[in-house]
Amino acid sequence: MRSLLRFPLKKTLLGFAVTGAVASAPVQAGEVEVLHWWTSGGEARAANVLKELMEAEGHTWKDFAVAGGGGETAMTVLKSRAMSGNPPSAAQIKGPEIQEWGELGLLGNLDDVAQAEDWDSLLPEVVANIMRHDGHYVAVPVNVHRVNWLWANPQALNKAGVEVPTSIDDMFEIADDLREVGVIPLAHGGQPWQDATVFETVVLAEAGPDFYRRALVELDPEALNSETMIDALTTFKRMRTLMDDGMSGRDWNIATSMVIGGQAAMQLMGDWAKGEFTAAGLTPGEDYICVPAPGTESAFTFNIDSLAMFKARDEEAQAAQDDLARLVLEPTFQEAFNLAKGSIPARSDLDMSAFDSCAQRSMADFKATSENGGLVPSMAHGMAVRASVQGAIFDVVTNFFNDPDMSPEAAAERLANAGSSLL
Ligand code: GAL
Repeated sequence: MRSLLRFPLKKTLLGFAVTGAVASAPVQAGEVEVLHWWTSGGEARAANVLKELMEAEGHTWKDFAVAGGGGETAMTVLKSRAMSGNPPSAAQIKGPEIQEWGELGLLGNLDDVAQAEDWDSLLPEVVANIMRHDGHYVAVPVNVHRVNWLWANPQALNKAGVEVPTSIDDMFEIADDLREVGVIPLAHGGQPWQDATVFETVVLAEAGPDFYRRALVELDPEALNSETMIDALTTFKRMRTLMDDGMSGRDWNIATSMVIGGQAAMQLMGDWAKGEFTAAGLTPGEDYICVPAPGTESAFTFNIDSLAMFKARDEEAQAAQDDLARLVLEPTFQEAFNLAKGSIPARSDLDMSAFDSCAQRSMADFKATSENGGLVPSMAHGMAVRASVQGAIFDVVTNFFNDPDMSPEAAAERLANAGSSLL
């Protein structure tokens, strides 16, 4: 059944060339319940690729989608399911959090699939490392997102007679012209993870990847509470002047739709935003512009989505999980999913010709920055520090952003405390 369905499905459903090896041993069909938070237009299209591939293998897909950008709500729901002894088969768990779940002894082992499919040589080391706990593969990467992007509407910029900004200063400089023609300079959603996304991008732009790493990855108190951080915090708070009053609580994809519709000119957001432009049928370079966030051209903030597997209850569940893990790294999935999601494949050996110019640039920059030191993990997206530290940093960042009376000096001091008290 599986071998009959595989090839025709790939051709008709996805329409892409199949270049990878296809495993042939028959497996028992089982159910996979997959927790994720891919509920926006572009994200849902991407998640559907996996559902259809799994169903074509004869498995039953039980969708466990928990809305909420950045996944905070999804993680809360996952914890309560796991605590009641009933975790799903797989969940979108990322970065250092994979280690936390591994330490609890709840994750299954994907070494057999990883060995059969040669993940060690398919995956860049920076990606493979995150997927292993205690030397064993426990998760499979679906993609690599770049967080430090600026999305812009060229018509909105033209209307004001301004160019795409190449520095954060430029962003402030073009703001008045945009406002004069009734365009909001920067679309934003006031939610902690979105505030943190803008914050880490400003830190990267103002202070560069080495400082970013010291402050937001190594949590060096001297970097967190430094003049450099105070300057970055000052600029970060000034970004509010580019945003509109309605931003509080707004979802990220609503902010993206403001750029698509021309009410706003720009958005600082990871390339899941591109999934929204793609779902709206728009073409980069014509209908919208993607450029690395101003001032961060030589850096790449990575955010790798991955599915971690919970220990399977029986053989069928195990077989379904193994199939899920194998499918995720196959070229068919990697291409179709990432075209819809806005990200690039997690493996770097794939032909990128079906991808748009933003993705091609992302792949080139990912490779270049992994050689030259510009590649840094996203703090805002759970790649840099454990969830408890990330939560403490989010609190400081959001409180500072929203409190007109909190000084950048006080925020820097609180950041240092947040970093060190929880280490
Ligand atoms: C990120 C996640 C992306 C995207 C985004 C918005 O943390 O890695 O896949 O879903 O949140 O929800």
